[in-house]
Amino acid sequence: MVSIVVGGHYGDEGKGKIVSYLARKDDPAFIARAGVGPNAGHTVYVEGVKYGLRMITCGFSNPNSKLLIGPGVLMDIDRFLNELDMTKTHDRIQIDGRCAVIEAKHKERDTSANSKKIGTTGSGCGPAQSDRVNRTIKLARDFPELEKYLCDVPEIVNDAIAEGEKLLIEGTQGFGLSLYYGNYPYVTSKDTSASTAAADVGVGPTNVDEVYVIYKAYMSRVGEDPYIHYLLDDDITESDLWTRILGEADDKGLEGTSNEKIASLLGEIGTVTGRPRKIGAFDYKLARYSARVNGATDICVTCLDKLFPGCLGAKKLDDLTDDALAHIKGIEERVGVRATLISTGPYLDHVIDLRDES
Ligand code: GTP
Ligand code: IMP
Ligand code: MG
Repeated sequence: MVSIVVGGHYGDEGKGKIVSYLARKDDPAFIARAGVGPNAGHTVYVEGVKYGLRMITCGFSNPNSKLLIGPGVLMDIDRFLNELDMTKTHDRIQIDGRCAVIEAKHKERDTSANSKKIGTTGSGCGPAQSDRVNRTIKLARDFPELEKYLCDVPEIVNDAIAEGEKLLIEGTQGFGLSLYYGNYPYVTSKDTSASTAAADVGVGPTNVDEVYVIYKAYMSRVGEDPYIHYLLDDDITESDLWTRILGEADDKGLEGTSNEKIASLLGEIGTVTGRPRKIGAFDYKLARYSARVNGATDICVTCLDKLFPGCLGAKKLDDLTDDALAHIKGIEERVGVRATLISTGPYLDHVIDLRDES
């Protein structure tokens, strides 16, 4: 049984939290990190402790699962070793020897004028991808400090599949950031769809059973994309969203309508960059398109409590307010796929899980 989790908008949809939830709930034998590399910043709360992870899968929350990093993923060695200490996963993690390694020179190049124009995370991913394509980059197997963690990830995952074990694959970023499908050139350095996530860890398309596409209940975006204001759907005006969010802001005594204040109110500050994220209303068109290209079997909506605070911590549909329920129904209808996981808060038990209901 192979399940993939990917972002359906512009990243930061809460994939980390969903992966962590699925890790605990479904108890996969293996959880493999796919995606670009350490440009991703996943935040999860496990037993009340906050973890900011950029290399190790958020599925570490299940101590029974073995953790992997697929050959498609870029490695930042310092960051990886640091996260090993943070998560205490030394004895159950392995990485593919063919992961390409980001070095200081890549991070330096990621401060170029072009990187600034795109508003990259500065993590060196784009320059490292370009060296990988030029076949000049070093691989994980070239670094002695990684030797004890090296393995052949495709061998492991395909053996697991053959034995009927569960594999969970964690993608990064979001569909709108895909090098192929996103708003070029304001995109990341690789495709971010489910097919690429599968290829990142060595799983063929015929072996994939479930694709979870994650959306936030509203839009958030880091980076310099000038088209963010076009994210608004025809039916929802910008002022509708602002009114909803600013209603909250007024309660908290915040003045003004600047995006920075709204981002701060919603807690939308980039995990990697520390920049306030730009906020917009849910983009149904992009959501539907991304669900189709990803081959979504399930969709998940996160941060519902931030738009509808009465829903914080809800664990069943009956606990949702009418307007929150209408929002979920509207998303399902327009995207054309059932929302089987709804996240109602940052903690792992803040989830409405409808997967067993038809
Ligand atoms: P990338 O790989 O960088 O795209 O990240 P991501 O999709 O894992 O998301 P990230 O962790 O960067 O951002 C999501 C933020 O929302 C985190 O701070 C989570 O703790 C938080 N979060 C996730 N789900 C919910 C939710 O349902 N409610 C609330 N209040 N916070 C949530
Ligand atoms: P890069 O991936 O660092 O090259 O950045 C390219 C674009 O993708 C910029 O707009 C970044 O803000 C965006 N981006 C990259 N990774 C993430 C992520 O994990 N979350 C949100 N945006 C991201
Ligand atoms: Mg993030």
